[in-house]
Amino acid sequence: MIKVILFLSVLFVLTICQDDHVYPLLGSNMVLQRNSNKTKLWGSTSSSIVNIQLRKSEVVIDNYEAKSVSGKWEVTLKSYPAGGPYQILVKTASVVVYQNVMFGDVYLCSGQSNMEFTINRGLNASSEVKDSVNYPNIHFFKVAHNDSPKPVDNVRGQWRVPDPSIGEFSAACYFFARNIYKALNGEVPIGLIESTWGGTPIQVWSSPDAIKQCNQTNGPSQPNHLWNGQIVPLLKYNVKAALWYQGENNAGRGHDLKVCKLYSCQLQAMIRDWRAKWNVGDFPFYFVLLAGFRPGNNWAEFRLAQLEALHQPHTYFATAMDIGDREDIHPKDKQEVGRRLSLIALNQIYGKSVAYKGPTLKSVKSQTSSKSATITVDFDHVVGAIVTKNTPKCKAPCCSPGNLFRITTSTRKDVVPNNVQIKANIITLTFDKNETEQFKELNYAMFPFPECVYIDNNTLLPVNAFRYINK
Ligand SMILES: *[C@@H]1O[C@H](CO)[C@@H](O)[C@H](O)[C@H]1NC(C)=O
Ligand SMILES: *[C@@H]1O[C@H](CO)[C@@H](O)[C@H](O)[C@H]1NC(C)=O
Ligand SMILES: *[C@@H]1O[C@H](CO)[C@@H](O)[C@H](O)[C@H]1NC(C)=O
Ligand SMILES: *[C@@H]1O[C@H](CO)[C@@H](O)[C@H](O)[C@H]1NC(C)=O
Ligand SMILES: *[C@@H]1O[C@H](CO)[C@@H](O)[C@H](O)[C@H]1NC(C)=O
Repeated sequence: MIKVILFLSVLFVLTICQDDHVYPLLGSNMVLQRNSNKTKLWGSTSSSIVNIQLRKSEVVIDNYEAKSVSGKWEVTLKSYPAGGPYQILVKTASVVVYQNVMFGDVYLCSGQSNMEFTINRGLNASSEVKDSVNYPNIHFFKVAHNDSPKPVDNVRGQWRVPDPSIGEFSAACYFFARNIYKALNGEVPIGLIESTWGGTPIQVWSSPDAIKQCNQTNGPSQPNHLWNGQIVPLLKYNVKAALWYQGENNAGRGHDLKVCKLYSCQLQAMIRDWRAKWNVGDFPFYFVLLAGFRPGNNWAEFRLAQLEALHQPHTYFATAMDIGDREDIHPKDKQEVGRRLSLIALNQIYGKSVAYKGPTLKSVKSQTSSKSATITVDFDHVVGAIVTKNTPKCKAPCCSPGNLFRITTSTRKDVVPNNVQIKANIITLTFDKNETEQFKELNYAMFPFPECVYIDNNTLLPVNAFRYINK
């Protein structure tokens, strides 16, 4: 009996393979984007007609029919609210059944090694992996590496539900989802698609159209390769938003400002281009500002280049500048990265009244008296109070006036205040009497590895690095 079943199932699989091209991105356990008229299913077949049936607990909810054109078919589904599980039957000459399909919110997580960094490598790994079974409707798909000189239409991978294999999934992506899932009491299934590759520059994730926008000449030897192999095959899959943690490779391509200027263009071009190519609207794009790392690199300037992406609509950042590791380019605390990213989504997508920004610069005023000179810095978005926080593994004296603010005057750079005082939302810097008269710029936390930051003691979100130009 068992032999017969085995034989029949082998035959069944063979029939599918001959007749229908299998797309792993569509399969059991997938999460399809809810509340949208742009959620699609697709495939290829030798049959001329494809019938698609959506069922819930054996009850037929909807039927769809697609005609195949040159062996390809596609249907756009009606809009469905969060929920499931559904079964989807795809009937051609044979029938394929997708089980445990949910409608929920789908997030794409992409970038280089800090997005690829797995739960297993991070803090509290084994307890986090065990805990994941408490969030059964977070489903995840890890796109297998595929360096491809030409665009492809398929990826390797599998939709999974939380089990020990989640330990090999992106930690930042998962913690983002977990926080959202908990905050929404598990009412919205979350689908995560990880498409990452360590050590990669932004050019390989960019289409030829995006590359052109920044007039790049001597880019890396293989531009577009991961766009071809790991993004193009996802473009039909509707997503709610994209999360991006990348830049270390590009920052390392030279210390000059040209590197930063180019990245500012590249990131914005890629955001615009991904949105255009997905064709599901200007989906939100959240990126991570590089973590603190090792003095002596250009990361402070690079973070300002990353921030220029905020010129694009619906674009937000979570900073990691204060949760890095002096000696390790892969800081282990991805829980906090995920938390900060999730606050943006909770506020912007789910309408929760949570703070997602640290205190932001409101105004800068300078004053000179007969004895001293002061610069007062005023902040918005203060929920609790602004307090100092030593960054992990900071070098003594960590939080000291010189480790927070510096000014540039017409004659001197890196002038350190003699005294710094915080009162409510206002920070007052005191300098020698003559210093502020010709002050040109004020820099805060503009270090590759800030030894100290200001943080809101209520939201635990830091004041992000900034450069104020005094005009
Ligand atoms: C989907 O399309 C229908 C019909 O055009 C429209 O009434 C509905 O509001 C749309 N739903 C969403 C979520 O866009
Ligand atoms: C790791 O687990 C400990 C003990 O439960 C907890 O105090 C700590 O906050 C966890 N760390 C992170 C980053 O979640
Ligand atoms: C690229 O070149 C075009 C034409 O020379 C120019 O208009 C555009 O500003 C350039 N873009 C960048 C980012 O340098
Ligand atoms: C202010 O005075 C100090 C000490 O006299 C001097 O070293 C410094 O260059 C002066 N700064 C400016 C901006 O003139
Ligand atoms: C934040 O700091 C202020 C001022 O020191 C204090 O009154 C308040 O209790 C603190 N809040 C939290 C959440 O620690």
